Amino acid sequence: MLRNVKRPADAIDEQRLWRRQMELARFGARPDGGVNRQALSAEDIAARRQLIAWATARGFACSVDSIGNLFVRRAGRNPDAAPVLTGSHLDSQPAGGKFDGAYGVMAGLEALEALEDLGISTERPIELVAWCNEEGGRFPPGAMGSAAYGGAQKLDDLLAIRDWEGVTVEAALRTTLAATPEAPLRTLGGKPAAYVEAHIEQGPLLEAARTTIGVVTGIQGAQWYHVEVIGSEAHAGTAPLKTRRDALKAAMAMIAALEQLMADETDTVRFTVGRFDVTPNSTNTVPGRVLFTIDFRHPDAAVLARLGGAIEGVCRAHARGCEVHVSKTLDMSPIRFDAAIQQRIDFTAGELGLSRMAIASGAFHDAKYMNPLCPSGMIFVPCEKGISHNPVENATAGDLAAGARVLVEVLLQLAGQ
Ligand code: GLV
Ligand code: MN
Ligand code: MN
Repeated sequence: MLRNVKRPADAIDEQRLWRRQMELARFGARPDGGVNRQALSAEDIAARRQLIAWATARGFACSVDSIGNLFVRRAGRNPDAAPVLTGSHLDSQPAGGKFDGAYGVMAGLEALEALEDLGISTERPIELVAWCNEEGGRFPPGAMGSAAYGGAQKLDDLLAIRDWEGVTVEAALRTTLAATPEAPLRTLGGKPAAYVEAHIEQGPLLEAARTTIGVVTGIQGAQWYHVEVIGSEAHAGTAPLKTRRDALKAAMAMIAALEQLMADETDTVRFTVGRFDVTPNSTNTVPGRVLFTIDFRHPDAAVLARLGGAIEGVCRAHARGCEVHVSKTLDMSPIRFDAAIQQRIDFTAGELGLSRMAIASGAFHDAKYMNPLCPSGMIFVPCEKGISHNPVENATAGDLAAGARVLVEVLLQLAGQ
């Protein structure tokens, strides 16, 4: 009955979606209103358990793969058909917000709920995925789960990665999987029919243009590096300057030179040193070791290759007698999303009376690794003042619901009614 009077977009429940966003934000809640829910932490486990509880209460089957990607499946009429996949990530930055990643998972769940509420069956199954460790703040690189699923990284290499305290992905994963026994293990990888991810924009363009839906055209490329500078510890009061191998002064010289290398009057290059560890970090000891990270991004593969290729040389040229080890921890080429998926998102948003515009993603997303596997795309919604990776990150319930309305319609088209 309902099928004839309502389209799935009408069954998206703005209040339910908002309530769940807020409930999820309790896991890892920070006193400043933000979220610290890093990958495979106790907080991440609690969020996973909540997702499983919501999913199983609605009769959806859960499963998890060997890199910790968590799946929720709404069966289709044809169990052998490749699923349509949607989702994002539950992990956050250490000083993250309530919406980065969590929104795409909650919007996907809301889409499944809306189809269920209307009793709409689909030819293909629709699967919701919470990708493991998209942020990469605890275990570099980011988008680890989707990279393993897509075959871009080897599982064994990823399992051996250690966090800043020395805990391996493998050990953290063992604890996580033991805590979610309701989700049986499934084979890693697959070939979805299509992938669509909803996400807050994390930048200011949609808000400035007073536009609700971003039809994402692609994702710029990104590279991450660890730079380890090893000098010698010495007494701050006695060691003559010319005998010192001061790892901190060398690191500062490197960063200043890298700033020059990355200087770009068009403001397209993105260059960030986000982590800086000094050892022994003592007032009266000359620093013996510094580890700093580089995150650098650009939409053009040739520029990425040229500037990325120069990083190690610049660091060595400013080593001031210290040892330097430069290692690349992430290397993502720029991508363009499938034109037909973009058109579908654009057309559907138009049908629903929503303003929309084409937009390129400055942030990376798990959709990057789905793009080579199947037609893929992303739906952006505005976030307040474009602020993200910040506890004050915010979005309106109305915009989040609008993105979920576009998402459910597009998923239904792709899964076949
Ligand atoms: C994702 O979190 C990114 O850093 O772009
Ligand atoms: Mn994200
Ligand atoms: Mn993020």
